[in-house]
Amino acid sequence: MNTQPRASQLDDKTIGELREIAARYPEARSGLLPMLHLVQSVQGRITPEGIEACAAILDLSPAEVNGVATFYTMYKRHGVGDYHVGVCTNTLCAVMGGDAIFARLKEHLDIGNDEVAVQRQGDSRTVSLEHIECNAACDYAPVVMVNWEFMDNQTPESAVQMVEALRAGHDVSSTRGPRLCTWKEAERVLAGFPDGRVDEGPTAGTASLAGLEIARERGWTAPGPSAAPAKEAADD
Ligand code: FES
Repeated sequence: MNTQPRASQLDDKTIGELREIAARYPEARSGLLPMLHLVQSVQGRITPEGIEACAAILDLSPAEVNGVATFYTMYKRHGVGDYHVGVCTNTLCAVMGGDAIFARLKEHLDIGNDEVAVQRQGDSRTVSLEHIECNAACDYAPVVMVNWEFMDNQTPESAVQMVEALRAGHDVSSTRGPRLCTWKEAERVLAGFPDGRVDEGPTAGTASLAGLEIARERGWTAPGPSAAPAKEAADD
């Protein structure tokens, strides 16, 4: 295997950590996704040198790495803000107010989808905006995510207040507990280097458990494992 990255602007520490990630897996190429997150944690986006470094370590072609990096929307080919704000505009969130939140933030920040707001005098942090697909948090719709942390039950007004607090450099916490970190810090966690905040906040909220509580009150249970095969056999 060729393990020598070609000329790269990535420093020795990052190259070492990319190799460390690859070594976690029986098949080194399984480490590509977290390796790309590490590149983003250092360079803020997927860069040509980042692609070349991953390819060299994993004995893949740059085209193969590029194919993965361009498939998933969490990998960015251009820089995002210190706080990347994703507004869910899938069906449930949209009808519950997600479309209104996205429209309000676009107007307030004076940007379009997947763009970074101009840093005003006095802003200590930058903010970018993207409409995102369902994050399986529909029980808290409409949902906004900041660097992949949930902000539940938002309104256009609460979303504007949040981005203003972020731009001013104030500490902002997810509605589920954890303090929001910057995009690069979040990318490092996604690369598999924990920041010690995993236990901040609850593991499941009341809304997520509502169906379970109702089922318990009414004595409902899930169908047994034999029910599905029997139906499939009947459909054949
Ligand atoms: S539709 Fe928005 S989280 Fe599911």
